[in-house]
Amino acid sequence: MPEPEVRSGRVLVLGCGGTIAGVARAGHSAAEWVAYDAGALGAGQLVAALPGLAAVPLEVRDVARLDSCDMDIETWQALARAVGHALADPQIAGVVITHGTDTLEETAFFLHSVWASASKPVVLTAAMRPATAASPDGPQNLLDAVALARDSWIRGVLVAFGGQAWPGDEVRKLHGQSVAAFAGGPGGPAAVVANGVVTAFRLAPGAPSVVPEAIWGTDPARWPWVEIVTSHAGARGDGVAALLAAGVQGIVVAGTGNGSIHQTLRAALREAQARGVPVWRASRCIAGGVLGPWDDDLPLSGLLTPAQARIALVLQLLATR
Ligand code: SIN
Repeated sequence: MPEPEVRSGRVLVLGCGGTIAGVARAGHSAAEWVAYDAGALGAGQLVAALPGLAAVPLEVRDVARLDSCDMDIETWQALARAVGHALADPQIAGVVITHGTDTLEETAFFLHSVWASASKPVVLTAAMRPATAASPDGPQNLLDAVALARDSWIRGVLVAFGGQAWPGDEVRKLHGQSVAAFAGGPGGPAAVVANGVVTAFRLAPGAPSVVPEAIWGTDPARWPWVEIVTSHAGARGDGVAALLAAGVQGIVVAGTGNGSIHQTLRAALREAQARGVPVWRASRCIAGGVLGPWDDDLPLSGLLTPAQARIALVLQLLATR
């Protein structure tokens, strides 16, 4: 088997904010949860703090400085555009995106949906502890992400976290506080990184689901509005009625178990479907997705999480309007 090589060219580092770029608030210790500002540092500062990157050709810029719970369409458009230009630029070896952990899986799934067939690595990374913590996890994650972005065997959208790299369509945040916060599908990580050395097990497969220009060429205000509603004991249909009245254009229902839906909520969702609003069935369970057949015609989201299904439905509506 041929040895992996270092890709020639620069690594494009795009900063989006997050805890990896977080700084403890004045008067607070970095050990205090939430007493820090996510995205306080720019990507250039993260890179400059790492002597291990001094010899690596980098191009660094900030796309946003967000707490990723506030991730927005404009930032996704800017990322998709920047990645598209980087993929077409022979001087760029690969792309690294620093991001918050909270919606990392959504941005990864979104970029995977647009750039699944990328011939270069597009590696997102993040951290659970702010940059000012006594023992931040971001620096190593960033070093690993750059190693992945330069490795000749890696391509497609991945998330680098805790020494592992997960395909962008599989990765999921499983823990709210632990530094071992991320995992992926049953196939395990796509690659691991140890001491800067990448070992790749499988390449990110897949085909893009949308024409990239449709992503950045559409006014954010005209992106389809798709909401997630959750089924639970005592669920009601009033929320769905309110969404319909407000003009929602698609709904993903996070059902119980294999996607079962409380009968009252289900009646409201059938009404939405009858009015031409697509309704997709997903599961709120941590694993397993939804498998058919079901005795109605609510399309199944398969193994997609509700958050992923929401993005897939947005992209489908964007592609077909
Ligand atoms: C964020 O998602 O931006 C804040 C939380 C984190 O990065 O861990």
